[in-house]
Amino acid sequence: MTTKTALKITKISNSRLTEVNLDDPGFGRVFSDHMLEVEYSDGYWKEAEIKPFGSIDVTPALNTLHYAQSVFEGMKAYYIDEETINLFRPEQNYERMARSCERMCIPVLDKETFMEGLTELIKLDHKWVPKKDGNTLYIRPLACAFDPVISASIAENYRFFIMTSPVGAYYNKAVRLTSSQKYVRAAKGGVGFAKASGNYAASFYPAKKAQENGFDQVLWLDAKEHKYVEEVGTMNIFFVIDGVLVTPELSGTILPGITRDSILQLADYWDMPFEERRLTIDEVMKAGREGVLDEVFGAGTAAVISPVKEVHHDGESVTFDTDSRGPIGQKLYDTLTGIQQGRIDDPFGWAHPVKV
Ligand code: COI
Repeated sequence: MTTKTALKITKISNSRLTEVNLDDPGFGRVFSDHMLEVEYSDGYWKEAEIKPFGSIDVTPALNTLHYAQSVFEGMKAYYIDEETINLFRPEQNYERMARSCERMCIPVLDKETFMEGLTELIKLDHKWVPKKDGNTLYIRPLACAFDPVISASIAENYRFFIMTSPVGAYYNKAVRLTSSQKYVRAAKGGVGFAKASGNYAASFYPAKKAQENGFDQVLWLDAKEHKYVEEVGTMNIFFVIDGVLVTPELSGTILPGITRDSILQLADYWDMPFEERRLTIDEVMKAGREGVLDEVFGAGTAAVISPVKEVHHDGESVTFDTDSRGPIGQKLYDTLTGIQQGRIDDPFGWAHPVKV
């Protein structure tokens, strides 16, 4: 880890904001006026710079394009009022990114530079935070290798970026999930716990196959026995079985979601029965058959709390005849978004207001 680097700010002369409909931005397609960039070379992170958002000039030999020595984060900024924008547990994102970097041999940027760069970027582009309920400014930190060589080895040069993008809902409807007996997301000893870019690329083919069969995403099972439920790839997974909130325990193969952690802390705070444990897909299907699978939902920064419409496994489906969240999913959604948008009490100190 390095010590804090200086921050230079170069502002745009003309904002692109007038060209964007913040009420209907889609997801991850438009980007705010500025971005943060920090270069690593000669063994240390250089001066951080906020500059106009734009293309970067790279050689096709850039090692990160070939070997995915690259990690990222997902966070959101929430509109409170003309003077205040909320972040949500940003230090958790920093800590997770540091763990991801360590696993992928990427030098860790110091926390002060991350936090200062993030808050200054949000201040500068605060007008890009949508006001419409449900819409937010998605924040994407990225750290990647930056050597212009195709040698499959740890790079010497890196770049760190933060870009921001006004977004609407990631899923516009309840999702249909299917397990896979053929493909796996992560195995023990691998990089499943890290927000490593390659984890996502590797999931696209199985997701495409699932989509050809009418599902939206794969509900990943463990790589060894294809028996234990893990996560969805775009989000962590929660079940309400006979009144008990259950989510797979972190095992090194599951992304430790910050929304996931917040849900567990809320359940504890409310004295709601919850379990973080190994859970077989057979138990889920049996609960469905017996009518005690009360709710299923995914949780993540992009997905927030997304209701699941169907869980399919081994030729059998459990379906819900509503596209809405169940009562527990809805209570969690209302509380999390209420804290994020400063509408309700925040007993955990999760909200991180930025005065613009
Ligand atoms: C997030 O929830 O922030 C993610 O990075 C998931 C990604 C599929 C958008």
